Amino acid sequence: MSDLQIGPASAADLGAVLDFWQAAAEGTSISDDLAGVERLHERDPQALLLARRDGELVGTVIAGFDGWRCHLYRLAVHPGHRRQGIGTALLAAAEERFVALGGRRADAMVLVRNERAHLAWEAAGYGPQDQWKRWVKPLGGPTR
Ligand SMILES: CC(C)(COP(=O)(O)OP(=O)(O)OC[C@H]1O[C@@H](n2cnc3c(N)ncnc32)[C@H](O)[C@@H]1OP(=O)(O)O)[C@@H](O)C(=O)NCCC(=O)NCCS
Repeated sequence: MSDLQIGPASAADLGAVLDFWQAAAEGTSISDDLAGVERLHERDPQALLLARRDGELVGTVIAGFDGWRCHLYRLAVHPGHRRQGIGTALLAAAEERFVALGGRRADAMVLVRNERAHLAWEAAGYGPQDQWKRWVKPLGGPTR
């Protein structure tokens, strides 16, 4: 893994990240458009972490800390680079950021049917909390 570089995205990376998610991520997020990722990047330029191997974008995770809780989003590794520890390395980098910011626990929303992801989250030490369900309300825009 010595050639794997993990660091924050720059503003110039954001378009490529959206293309990457089309190929590598599970489903679509309500914020998956240029305005959405630009807003994230303006608000917290360190939150979107990219993994590169030999300069190629091979993985992403959003490590969002709002001052209260630590949320992980958009963990994705390129299909041609999976099972090489990149997801694990991205989560380790995200957790390092959270700890440096004073975060106490990281969480992620994981689709019930995404069983491959369950194995990856479990391998990184995460586990489900069955007593919660997500309650949502769309704010003005289209519902997804
Ligand atoms: C989930 C995902 C990010 C894992 O990335 P990855 O780089 O392949 O993960 P790692 O190589 O770090 O795997 C770490 C461990 O997780 C488990 N794991 C990961 N993928 C697995 C799979 N397909 N089958 C079984 N176990 C798996 C294994 O225990 C693995 O360790 P091992 O390879 O030594 O056996 C990747 O499969 C992906 O991008 N999936 C599509 C997007 C997605 O579902 N994201 C999660 C949204 S909640």
